[in-house]
Amino acid sequence: MRSHYCGALGTANIDETVTLCGWVDRRRDHGGVIFLDMRDRQGIVQVVFDPDTEEHFQRADRVRSEYVLKVTGRVRARSEASVNPAMATGAIEVLGKELEILNHAATPPFQMDEYTAVGEEVRLQYRYMDLRRQEMQQRLILRSRITSAVRNFLEGEGFLDIETPILTRATPEGARDYLVPSRTHPGQFFALPQSPQLFKQLLMVSGFDRYYQIAKCFRDEDLRADRQPEFTQIDIETSFLDEAGIMDIAERMVRELFRTVLGVELPAMPHMPYSEAMSRYGSDKPDLRIPLELISIDDLMQQVDFKVFRGPADDPQGRVAALKVPGGAGISRKEIDDYTAYVSIFGARGLAWIKVNDIDAGVAGLQSPILKFMPDEIVAQMMQRLDAKNGDIIFFGADKTRVVNEALGALRIKVGEDQGLVAEGWAPLWVVDFPMFEQDGSGNWTPLHHPFTAPSGSVEELAANPGEALSRAYDMVLNGCELGGGSIRIFQRDMQEAVFRILQIEEAEAEEKFGFLLKALQYGAPPHGGLAFGLDRLVMLMTGTASIRDVIAFPKTQTAHCVLTDAPGDVSAQQLRELNIRLRQAREEAGQS
Ligand code: AMO
Ligand code: AMP
Repeated sequence: MRSHYCGALGTANIDETVTLCGWVDRRRDHGGVIFLDMRDRQGIVQVVFDPDTEEHFQRADRVRSEYVLKVTGRVRARSEASVNPAMATGAIEVLGKELEILNHAATPPFQMDEYTAVGEEVRLQYRYMDLRRQEMQQRLILRSRITSAVRNFLEGEGFLDIETPILTRATPEGARDYLVPSRTHPGQFFALPQSPQLFKQLLMVSGFDRYYQIAKCFRDEDLRADRQPEFTQIDIETSFLDEAGIMDIAERMVRELFRTVLGVELPAMPHMPYSEAMSRYGSDKPDLRIPLELISIDDLMQQVDFKVFRGPADDPQGRVAALKVPGGAGISRKEIDDYTAYVSIFGARGLAWIKVNDIDAGVAGLQSPILKFMPDEIVAQMMQRLDAKNGDIIFFGADKTRVVNEALGALRIKVGEDQGLVAEGWAPLWVVDFPMFEQDGSGNWTPLHHPFTAPSGSVEELAANPGEALSRAYDMVLNGCELGGGSIRIFQRDMQEAVFRILQIEEAEAEEKFGFLLKALQYGAPPHGGLAFGLDRLVMLMTGTASIRDVIAFPKTQTAHCVLTDAPGDVSAQQLRELNIRLRQAREEAGQS
């Protein structure tokens, strides 16, 4: 129907007769001349109808916002006075000759150009309208370019795109499963994959060597700004490569993406051990754009009587750390109270602080609620260690190491943003040398990555000291966001069994859940490893959006609800009967309770 996209027209098309198809973005009547801004996925162009074209002019007069039109006309340069530099097609306009109304549109549920005022619930309910916005079109177009660049790169490196099942068994990645009842196996359930992890490992056993998939993953977990219950991974697995080889491919892929899609040359990606990331930034995904660091002062605080600090300083599981904010002495009491409330979300029981007014005046030049609890000599040593300068504020956290890291790690980001300390640009890194396991609340070991990740030592070393064991896992972090992660896998049955034993997965349970994997490891499994990137997060970063929902065409809300289709929804009694499912409470009862 069309000869050109509206948004693709420019001065090169002057004097051409073009046919456009699109939506009415805006209609203006200017003393007998009608201006229609016509929109398609490429952008907007101005079409002018004057009364010379009687019949078509009449029709143009009748169109309303979001009507679908087919317009034929001649491209002409705008007069100098009417050039619109803010518009990509602002140097030209189309003099309309013919106009056909392809379809009418009801009054839009919201003003199409005033989105900020529209609640997200309404945007999602009318997502097909919301997606007409230039901004949303651009994001999804960029997303498509990103997946295409990923495919190009990986195919060029010899990777094969192989699909893995959606109806499967649980794949443990640490979240709850989405379950699907089986009709043909009464009382039994499929689980939707939390990732293709086990299947991609089996593909390595089969000899495919280099696998990738743009894969849908499903995780029933608490949602945040960067999490969806259904999301997409760029999933990769290789055989006969070590961590350096895999990280090299992944890094080149991301570099290539930024280069081809954004024209950005990413800086070097340092490798940082997990322990260093936690101690310096309180996080395993540090945002290196923020030039603030946590500094341990446990040794100094072991010499004070102030119980709040002394206790954690003496506790091997505890930590006392300082976060110095250069030039932050202007932060008000009210703001400090707000920060104190903020860190309490992470379990911190307070937020001590010192303002440095005059460093040369010793303790007299400092202002703080805690100085009275410490000898001057210790305060002086602390100021020296922190290299405190006039105008600084120093915040303190004292608690279990986990609480201090989470609280000060989060405060570091918040204060960094509030104080305008976040540098422009991109700060990627690899976090490496993760511990194999961490202890949960009841003292049981849980895997930091997943239970198929190889440790860096032997079966004996692992069994002797699980708490000290490091894994062969790696995460790529960009601007404080975990973009992707992976590991070298266990490829020998005895090691896999040893890990299951530490995780207290009984032999019978291991056999029941992962017997197929254990069996496969016996039939000549090659050394293998891989990783997966969160595609949605990658697109978020590359489009500069704060919400993962803005880069997914049809996302779910924070309560994992699709407001557009109103899913999840009820099913008929007949369907339930076929599935051998009886609801615990009849629906009417649930309504009454
Ligand atoms: P992991 O669980 O770290 O590893 O996931 C890999 C990447 O997927 C993204 N991601 C998510 N994105 C949006 N919403 C979510 N709910 C969500 N959960 C994870 C993140 C994360 O870095 N099988 C392993 C990979 C491997 O070992 O090869 C895995 O799934 O960006
Ligand atoms: P208090 O003696 O309870 O009034 O605390 C003195 C100062 O220490 C206050 O500024 C508190 O916010 C702070 N504080 C209390 N507990 C902690 C903690 N666990 N970590 C850091 N600061 C704390």
